[in-house]
Amino acid sequence: MNSSNGINPFPGIRPFDVQEKYLFFGREDQTAELLTRLRKTRFLAVVGSSGSGKSSLVRAGLIPELHGGTMAAAGSAWEVAVMKPGGDPLTNLAKSLVDADLYDPDQEDVVSMIRASLSRSGMGLVDTIQQSDLESKTNLLIVVDQFEEIFRFRRMTGISEEEAGHFIRLLLEASQDESCPIYVVLTMRSDFLGDCAQFGGLAEAVNEGEYIIPRLNRNQRKQAIEAPSRVGGREMSNRLVQRLLNDISDDPDQLPILQHALMRTWEYWVQAGSEGPVDLEHYQATGGMTEALSRHADEVFQSLPDGEHRRIATLIFKSLTEKVSENRGIRRPMQLNELHEICGGDIKHLLHVIDEFRKTGCTFLMPAGESALQKHTIIDISHESLMRVW
Ligand SMILES: Nc1ncnc2c1ncn2[C@@H]1O[C@H](COP(=O)(O)OP(=O)(O)O)[C@@H](O)[C@H]1O
Ligand SMILES: [Mg+2]
Repeated sequence: MNSSNGINPFPGIRPFDVQEKYLFFGREDQTAELLTRLRKTRFLAVVGSSGSGKSSLVRAGLIPELHGGTMAAAGSAWEVAVMKPGGDPLTNLAKSLVDADLYDPDQEDVVSMIRASLSRSGMGLVDTIQQSDLESKTNLLIVVDQFEEIFRFRRMTGISEEEAGHFIRLLLEASQDESCPIYVVLTMRSDFLGDCAQFGGLAEAVNEGEYIIPRLNRNQRKQAIEAPSRVGGREMSNRLVQRLLNDISDDPDQLPILQHALMRTWEYWVQAGSEGPVDLEHYQATGGMTEALSRHADEVFQSLPDGEHRRIATLIFKSLTEKVSENRGIRRPMQLNELHEICGGDIKHLLHVIDEFRKTGCTFLMPAGESALQKHTIIDISHESLMRVW
């Protein structure tokens, strides 16, 4: 997100990430509440509609707090593994454990080895962790973001029901096992809550440890709008703050739309020379809350070099989303090589399109930024609001 003027403090439609706690405002109370609950239970489902801020709350609120905040001060050390189920939840769980430094990453085939160990029995996760490098007296938090992806098994193309069931059993057994300090936090869309009943024990666990994410109230929204600019010593004019607050609708997509408008407003302010406060005219240049997102996505699409690139772009967005039922779309993160199989054509063209949609100041696709993509890199749309708004 570097621009000539330093960092754009607004992430756009993607969630806040673990390192962005310093830009994350308005959720102090909810973060504290999650911590309190984690002291009492080892299984927590953070539930709310799409765009309500679940991923951000867990990533930029809860996790940093475990690492440096009150829980750490109380004497408990934490390791955190973050994953999304995607098309292969067991492999993705195995990868997240390696990324959390629980195993020697240089060991050959480490991910497939851990996956095999996870598959062995319902206690597979407990057993696997007992053989890991997790130090004694250290807790392990496993975050399963976008948990609803697990319910894709219903579709022909999805994961098998058996695999989904096993993955869920691993999490439940681990969070109930006395011998191993494993904590599980899921984020899940509320429109999938009913699907939990299909797996033995899951509905019960969710009932026990459910946290419904509250909406930001007006004051918290004000914080979320004006505080990030101040982090870099910049100001946002009062009239802009008021205007933004008034322009936020009751639309459930209000947060991603607001956040995208803020990111674009900042970009226009930088383009205008970044003199004085971020102001109304910069916001107006984006097209305002209702227009900013679709206008921006169109611009990126139209600026692709030719029809072939645009064909690929259309296919990418189609492939990365799936209709589960009427009005219920879901993300379908996919590895780069799978995406290439679907889109066909020259891989260079595919890479170019993905890069255009994930570059600094854009973030429609993830992973955001300029890091080189590998064939196994998982590509995801940054938010499902994109499906609805664009
Ligand atoms: N506290 C906050 N302040 C400002 N924007 C936020 C906040 N929490 C989330 N957002 C933004 O709202 C959008 C949705 O957040 P996300 O965490 O992805 O929600 P969910 O996981 O519930 O779909 C993203 O654009 C994110 O940047
Ligand atoms: Mg999310």
